Amino acid sequence: MTEFTLFRANPRALLVFLATASLALPSPSAMAETGGVLTAVLGSCDAEISLVKDRLMEPKDHDLLGLTFTTGSIGENKVVLAKSGVGKVNAAIASALLIERFRPTRLIFTGVAGAVSPDLLPGDVVIGATMAQHDLGTWTDDGISRRGFANPITGTRNPTGFPADTKLLARAELAAARVALMAAVVDGTRRKPRVTSGVVASGDTFIASTGKRRELREGLGADAVEMEGAAVAQVCHQFKVPCVIIRGISDFADSRAEADIDKFMEVAARNSAMLALEMLAE
Ligand code: ADE
Repeated sequence: MTEFTLFRANPRALLVFLATASLALPSPSAMAETGGVLTAVLGSCDAEISLVKDRLMEPKDHDLLGLTFTTGSIGENKVVLAKSGVGKVNAAIASALLIERFRPTRLIFTGVAGAVSPDLLPGDVVIGATMAQHDLGTWTDDGISRRGFANPITGTRNPTGFPADTKLLARAELAAARVALMAAVVDGTRRKPRVTSGVVASGDTFIASTGKRRELREGLGADAVEMEGAAVAQVCHQFKVPCVIIRGISDFADSRAEADIDKFMEVAARNSAMLALEMLAE
């Protein structure tokens, strides 16, 4: 029996179905309290979302095809939080499902990244002013020629770099002036973390190579590298959802990257999440 024939035979079943379906979304009255603003927060792993999860009041889990989306509030803000998993495909799946089901007003991704700019050190935070997929384009004998492919919704070509939403970027930069970040100890020296904005490159490989790091800097002007942000930015661009990507520096994307990420993951993930939370504090 299809849902339609079930509902014709039993109209009460339709009421139960509609009531259950509406429970999965933030209630209209809850949305009205915040002017209808719903902020989506995504991270790739538990370490990246745990601080935000801990601040979520009245959390409520919603299962969507096996992924968990948690609604709740942080201060005056209605929030939906999810863990995407690592890599651009996982990030695109989570952001598309989230947008389809919850229709967020804006999306903030928080997580960690490898430093490509020589000015960045572990614990620093980069706000992605531009997000680019470093492994998208055409491979030639001279290396990669980076370019976006068509947006299937509009038929127009996507840019190589997706700019952050200007209002969210400005909000993140204002929040950066207020936020209290955790100092990282790098090579025995405790250092006050800095927040900058710049180019964040995303690709489906963990970068632990000085040569690749140099290519990302010279070929793309990248400041930091990670594995999800530009995919989220593309999904948000195609579905017209304002977004910004925030990343704490966990390593130098060089031959020591795998050891460094173990050492600096906590401070990097924490500082990124602190800035995301500060954006909600306004
Ligand atoms: N995330 C954190 N560090 C990274 C690196 N070196 N490469 C890709 N993603 C990262």
